[in-house]
Amino acid sequence: MDKLRIRGGQPLHGSITVSGAKNAALPLLAATLLAPGTHTLHNVPDLRDTRTMLQLLQIMGATWERDGSTVQVNTGQLTGAEAPYELVKTMRASVLVLGPLLGRTGYARVSLPGGCAIGARPVDYHLQGFQALGVKSSMKGGYVEVRAQGRLTGGSICFDIPSVTATENLLMAAAKAQGQTVIQNAAKEPEVGNLIDMLAAMGAQIQGKDTDCLTVTGVEELHPSEVRIIADRIEAGTYLMAAGAAGGRLEVKGCDPSHLTVLIDKLRTAGMEIEVKGNCCTASCSVSDNGTPCPLTAVNITTMPYPGFPTDLQAQFMALMSQSSGVSIIHETIFENRFMHVAELQRLGAEIVVEGSRAVVTGLARGQLVGAPVMATDLRASASLVIAGLAASGTTEISRIYHLERGYERLAEKLCRVGAAIEQIPG
Ligand code: EPZ
Repeated sequence: MDKLRIRGGQPLHGSITVSGAKNAALPLLAATLLAPGTHTLHNVPDLRDTRTMLQLLQIMGATWERDGSTVQVNTGQLTGAEAPYELVKTMRASVLVLGPLLGRTGYARVSLPGGCAIGARPVDYHLQGFQALGVKSSMKGGYVEVRAQGRLTGGSICFDIPSVTATENLLMAAAKAQGQTVIQNAAKEPEVGNLIDMLAAMGAQIQGKDTDCLTVTGVEELHPSEVRIIADRIEAGTYLMAAGAAGGRLEVKGCDPSHLTVLIDKLRTAGMEIEVKGNCCTASCSVSDNGTPCPLTAVNITTMPYPGFPTDLQAQFMALMSQSSGVSIIHETIFENRFMHVAELQRLGAEIVVEGSRAVVTGLARGQLVGAPVMATDLRASASLVIAGLAASGTTEISRIYHLERGYERLAEKLCRVGAAIEQIPG
């Protein structure tokens, strides 16, 4: 398995262009199942996870081709409605085929995703939502089977927690249900909005985009569409924090700063200069003559559903706070086990104490982290180790970087181009 080798202490200068959002590409690729014909999606990132989703569509009879960042998917002839364990165990987001398959065929059988490094990842909200549409679900042999009793009928659901993929699954199923569906306490993430735009382009009737109450009026038929995946706000935020860790001046282009307001506020409070102009954020962290980046102030965060601080940026922020000159409290409220990166950051010398859902980070100021071999445990934990490696003195080697490749397109190449001493080495 490949590794990343990072020689720390190199400030970043230049610009990085953000790719399309993984967490928009996955539901939008799944949505192509809803309408037969050829769908065109622009700005689709080439990631391990998008390749897995395309493989899943192919298993069900779809065909697809990629031309640069444009992917055309033809779902005219579906031959199956099953997502096998071998694929689902590698990507939990495979559950996103449940909703469109119900809307298209009234049936689906998907392996239960099982847990992952960050938590149990149940799908009960998804099934409760489908039940409101008249769908019966059963669990057998590690698979969840959902079956409509005739055409789906509109209903109402109020989620306990604004689940992102449960909201997306329900939107896709309700788009073709008879009558109206009301989703309360819906997720408001920009990626949900991107899906709503695609479904509307396909002929769906959805009100309430960007709010926590969505109303869907089902239609008989939907048709293929041409859409663009929004920029990846998590990738953009990761690079802004990389600049804070390494120092320098980094332009993050092709992003939507309005999707990053909470992070930008926190980075400014920490002492970074963040300039916002159009679809570009420029992060500056001056570097002294001896190469030490500007000092950072310790800042507390609590992860929350959008527009709160994203849980997908928590691990990266923790790595940055290990460079601050104070104590930062990181409160993770979304997932029950999203501190797997703590033990690895401690191997680099970070002073972190976990107390339940809180991590207390005692910043070591600049230059105190020392490079060491570390292991990636999940997607965002891997990004956290990259950020720490950029700041650490000496060399950091990160193993199991297949986690990183799930959600970051050409990360090492992009960072190399702006001055990072980072290379991918065959494991
Ligand atoms: C989406 O996951 C994202 N993935 C995650 O990104 C992200 O961390 C998460 O939303 C929160 O923003 C995709 O969009 C593909 P949830 P999702 O349902 O939908 C509980 C990354 O790194 N819950 O919003 O699975 C759940 O356990 C990934 O890119 C239930 O209890 O997350 C969690 O505690 C990681 N029952 C909370 O809700 C359910 O049926 C929020 O999870 C569903 C969720």
